[in-house]
Amino acid sequence: MKLGIEDISLATTSLVLDLDEVAAAQGADPDKFRIGIGQDSMSIPAPDEDVVTLGAQAAQRVLHGQDLSAIRTVLFATESGVDQSKSAGVYMHRLLGLNPNARVIEFKQACYSGTGALQLALALVARNPEQKVLVVAADIARYDAGSSGEPTQGAAAVAMLISATPDVLAIEPVSGLYTQDIMDFWRPNYRSTAIVDGRYSIKAYLDSVKQSWRDYRAQGGHELSEFDHFCYHQPFTRQAVKGHATLAREGGVDAETRDAQLEHTLDYNRVLGNSYTASLYVGLLSLLDSSPDDLTGHRIGFFSYGSGAVGELFAGVVQPGYRTRSHRTEHRAAIDGRTPIDYARYFELHERPDDVDGGDHPRERGTTGPFRFAGVRDHGRVYEPTS
Ligand code: CAA
Repeated sequence: MKLGIEDISLATTSLVLDLDEVAAAQGADPDKFRIGIGQDSMSIPAPDEDVVTLGAQAAQRVLHGQDLSAIRTVLFATESGVDQSKSAGVYMHRLLGLNPNARVIEFKQACYSGTGALQLALALVARNPEQKVLVVAADIARYDAGSSGEPTQGAAAVAMLISATPDVLAIEPVSGLYTQDIMDFWRPNYRSTAIVDGRYSIKAYLDSVKQSWRDYRAQGGHELSEFDHFCYHQPFTRQAVKGHATLAREGGVDAETRDAQLEHTLDYNRVLGNSYTASLYVGLLSLLDSSPDDLTGHRIGFFSYGSGAVGELFAGVVQPGYRTRSHRTEHRAAIDGRTPIDYARYFELHERPDDVDGGDHPRERGTTGPFRFAGVRDHGRVYEPTS
């Protein structure tokens, strides 16, 4: 029995900031961002956008035409959670009119948790192939303004329908795993921006690539030359390039194969920025949407990394139906349709104070998406459709 992704789609925010604006504000050479970290722009949330509205927007597309009663589990992966107790997925569940006879849970382990949710979804479907599981990975990456992490912000959500009829990608059972307790990137409860030891985080990521690969091979996984493509968690696209150079050395493939395996997987991230839990799957969509070739039967490798730190390396094979499930046009429209803002507007949005206690605190309108965060009323977050 094949298990995997039946449908997959992404959403991003309504605003975008060109990294030349950040370079000018920081007094940096724009090439440091465009070439050195491999990023051109980053998605910025409008005042009434958050992970719930982004997640719901992505999920709406993969739910179109589905029998919603088959979806009995909803897994929401994020490290930009909106509440310490209630799952962001429960708000989304109502907005989407999902089956009340379902379980809804939020997952957290930095940028890794989308993969954790995907693996649990596969196990649930293996137990009952009649069921489908909705997995949503959504994040808004936030570092302090003026910090070295600032140009590596961004935002996106990816929704995946996991089932025993995987029209897009059949996921293979072997995984390479690696966990170590380190402080490379984290966000204490009292902060809305991450703390990062930048150079150390890059080293920790590359170490995790190596160790996850070694475990993958020890578990009986394929040789590197058997992969047509490789998708990475992309805090910035150059990190994926560094990751794959490390893997190519471990796996013994030549430079031509190495470069071909990464082709088309970086295009979306370069303009969206880091989307934490979603970014690995943004890489998959970038490949599926951008490659001119028929990818049917191609094996794709995936490296998922969540600081702190957990790594997982696994593989999937593209299925004959993947083109019938394509949302390429909508993805391009979402990316190209973002409104450019200047550094001053970005800074104003970035420095807006956190939501305050009690009372009625409506949010300024701004999203072009189908759902909005209307504000806080009596400590509760209020979400509504935009039309
Ligand atoms: N032209 C071309 N390249 C230039 C350049 C120029 N004018 N100026 C600098 N560069 C290059 C540098 O040589 C460097 O490349 P190498 O790494 O290949 O040497 C690159 O641009 C970046 O320059 P610096 O190292 O000087 O940049 P920095 O110290 O200001 O910040 C960063 C870089 C550490 C990645 C920082 O952006 C950061 O902290 N980002 C957040 C942390 C992060 O994303 N870590 C990734 C691993 S952790 C993870 O994956 C989880 C997650 O999602 C966060």
